[in-house]
Amino acid sequence: MTDHSGVGFPAMVNADADYSGRPSSARIYDALLGGNHNFEVDREAAKRLLSMIPAAGEMARANRAFLNRAVRFLLDAGVRQFLDIGSGIPTVGNVHEIAQSREPGARVVYVDIDPVAVAHAGEILRDNPLATAVQADMRFPQAILDHAEVRKLIDLDRPVGLLLVSMLHFVPDDDAFVAVDRLREALPAGSYVVVSHGVSETPADAAGEGVAQLYQRTDVSTATGRSRDQILRFFGDAELVPPGLVWVNEWPDGPQDDAEPCDMAVVAAIGRKS
Ligand SMILES: C[S@@+](CC[C@H](N)C(=O)[O-])C[C@H]1O[C@@H](n2cnc3c(N)ncnc32)[C@H](O)[C@@H]1O
Repeated sequence: MTDHSGVGFPAMVNADADYSGRPSSARIYDALLGGNHNFEVDREAAKRLLSMIPAAGEMARANRAFLNRAVRFLLDAGVRQFLDIGSGIPTVGNVHEIAQSREPGARVVYVDIDPVAVAHAGEILRDNPLATAVQADMRFPQAILDHAEVRKLIDLDRPVGLLLVSMLHFVPDDDAFVAVDRLREALPAGSYVVVSHGVSETPADAAGEGVAQLYQRTDVSTATGRSRDQILRFFGDAELVPPGLVWVNEWPDGPQDDAEPCDMAVVAAIGRKS
């Protein structure tokens, strides 16, 4: 029998499927953030991750705070539509909450590969006609761009905020670069690309192999940091807004006096397409 203990996602998740036997990257992240939309296997995986990267919880929270700042920045820049790919399980400070509290007409489409994440997002968005969640794999970008829900809410003739926050390190090279190029190219001038990403060449790299093995047992096949140069490739011709590519907790103010950036293994940047 499926163990639903401690799990807050609604019963609308496919009743025949047992999601509790294998950890998922979305639910591990939820566990790191202290959420309750996860199973025992996810919490165990999160514990193992913390034993390898003690700052993993802090990084998740810093990443979430960056997402919040990034959405506000995009709102200030006039963006009113958000395509949030690899959006995860809804938690504090969701994109539609931030955007629609400032701009009630803002539109948000969440996309995630994880059925639990999508089911829970769909549930909380049930009465929100300007936001929705779809289950899709970013390795098939055209399917996302052509998706009826995306077409309904996102006007590709007007600027879009494309959010790829802490998710591209779960996508292998062969797919990630091509897919992001396709998504970016589909957006009109004035759109923004927001990326946060695990970076290699940090102390956390010592745990790299163990982390990769841990994620190989989840729904994603990889969890690999990339170099800064590789991460910059995701922006193509989009021009980085200041301060450029920095530690996720340093965007947009730059280095903080009390920061210990060597503990961070996630960098972030925002690019504007012209
Ligand atoms: C670490 S969570 C990040 C959640 C959210 N973007 C944030 O930063 O708070 C990574 C998310 O990416 C999703 N993901 C991984 N591979 C994906 C893929 N190929 N297509 C769509 N989503 C994917 C996972 O299911 C998970 O929800």
